Amino acid sequence: MLRSFSFYNPTKIYFGKDSLDNLKAELSNYGDTLLLTYGKNAVKSMGLYDQVTDILKDAGKKVVELSGVMPNPTYTKLMEGVKLVKENNVSLILAVGGGSVIDCAKGIAVSAYCEDDPFETYWLKYKGLANKIVPVASILTMVGTGSEMNGGSVITHEEMKIKASRVFPAQVYPKFSILNPEYTFSVPRYQMVSGVFDTMSHLMEQYFSGNDNNTTDYVIESLLKSSIDNVRAALKNPEDYESRSNLMWNATLALNTLTGLSKVQDWQVHMIEHQLGAYTDCAHGMGLAAISLPYYRHIYPNGLDKFVRFAKEIWGVSTEGKTKEAVAEEGINAMEKFLNECGIVTSIKELGATKEMLPKIEESTVILGRGYKKLTRDEILSILEACF
Ligand code: NZQ
Ligand code: ZN
Repeated sequence: MLRSFSFYNPTKIYFGKDSLDNLKAELSNYGDTLLLTYGKNAVKSMGLYDQVTDILKDAGKKVVELSGVMPNPTYTKLMEGVKLVKENNVSLILAVGGGSVIDCAKGIAVSAYCEDDPFETYWLKYKGLANKIVPVASILTMVGTGSEMNGGSVITHEEMKIKASRVFPAQVYPKFSILNPEYTFSVPRYQMVSGVFDTMSHLMEQYFSGNDNNTTDYVIESLLKSSIDNVRAALKNPEDYESRSNLMWNATLALNTLTGLSKVQDWQVHMIEHQLGAYTDCAHGMGLAAISLPYYRHIYPNGLDKFVRFAKEIWGVSTEGKTKEAVAEEGINAMEKFLNECGIVTSIKELGATKEMLPKIEESTVILGRGYKKLTRDEILSILEACF
C-alpha cells in the first residue's frame, strides 16, 4: 500500500555528453556575480575548470572563487564561503565537484544571511529557514550522494567533532544540475566504489523499513540491481559510458526523495557513519559499507521477511529447503562477497578508527529508532566493535 505523500523536486537536470552546453542560458537567470566553488585538484586536472570559466566569462559574469573544498566539508570552509558571498553580493553559487562541494555550497547558501550561529541554528537545532537563501547550481563530477538533486547538506564541525546532516526544503535544492557521465571517468577506483556503495546504502536505508508492499520497494530493487551490474562493468572499463551513465542516474534517483516515498526510512547506518567520519575523516561510502554488515546481521531477525526478499531479489538466493533466517543470512553474506570483489573496505580500523575512538563515536551517534530495531547505546558499540 502507498500511504499519502506529496512529491515535489524543483531541480532541473541536464544529463548527457553535451549537458554543459546549457550552462550559459541558465546563467542569464542570475545577477552579475557568481561564487564558483570546487575541490582540490580534480576539476582543474580534468580540464573542466577552464571550460566552465570560459563559459562564465562569455556570459559576462564576475567570478569569485572558493577552492579547496575538502571531502567531508568543514564548517570553517563553509564560513570562508559565507564571507565571499557577503562581500561580493553573490547571486548564484556554482558548485563543481562531488557531494562535498555541493553540500558546502548549500551550507553557504543558507548561512550567508543567517543572523545567528548558522551551524547551531540549522544543523544542531534544525530550525526552519528564516533568512535570504542564495541560489545554488551544480556540475557533478563524482557519483554517489545524490546532493545534485536534493536538499541535503552534511557539514563537519571540527572542534565539536560532529558531522551533522541537514535536509533542507526545496528552496535549497540546486536550481539546475549538469550531469555528464564522462566527467566521472577520472574518479579513482577507491572513490568510485565508495560512491556506488553510498548509493546502495541510500537505497537500503529506505528499503529496510515498514512492512507494506509498495511500488517504491520495486523501484529500489531495480536501482540496487543496476548499481551492482554497472559497477562491475565500470571496474572492468572505467571509460565505459554506458555503465558510468547508469551509475550516475542511479545515484541521483536513490536520494532525490523518489525512493523514499511512502517509506518510514531507517538511516541508522548513516548516523553511525557520520560520527565515524567526524573522528576519522574516512570516505563516506567506505564507512557505510563497514557498518552495514554487522548492523544488518544484528537487525535482520526484526525484519525477517524483508531480508528474505532482499536475498532473493537482489542476490538470487534460492529459498528451497531453507529457513527464513538462513536465506536472510545468505543474502547478507552475498553482499559481503560483492563488497570484497569491488575492493570496498569493511574494517573501520583500516579507515583510521582506533579502539579509543569507539566509545566516543558511540556516545555522539544520533539514535533514530525508525528501522526494524531501535538500537541501544550498547548495541551501537557492539556494531562498531564488530567492524573494527
Ligand atoms: O578534491 P578533489 O580534487 O576535487 O577530489 C575529489 C575528492 O577527493 C575526488 N573527485 C571528485 N570528482 C572527481 C574526483 N577525482 C577525480 N576525478 C573526478 N571527476 O573525489 C574525492 C571525493 O569527493 P567528495 O565530494 O568528498 O565525494 P562524495 O561525492 O562521496 O561526497 C561525500 C560527502 O557527501 C556527504 C558525505 O557525508 C560526505 O561528506 N553526503 C551528502 C548527502 C547529501 N547531500 O544528500 C547524503 C550522503 O549520505 C552523504 O552523507
Ligand atoms: Zn550517504
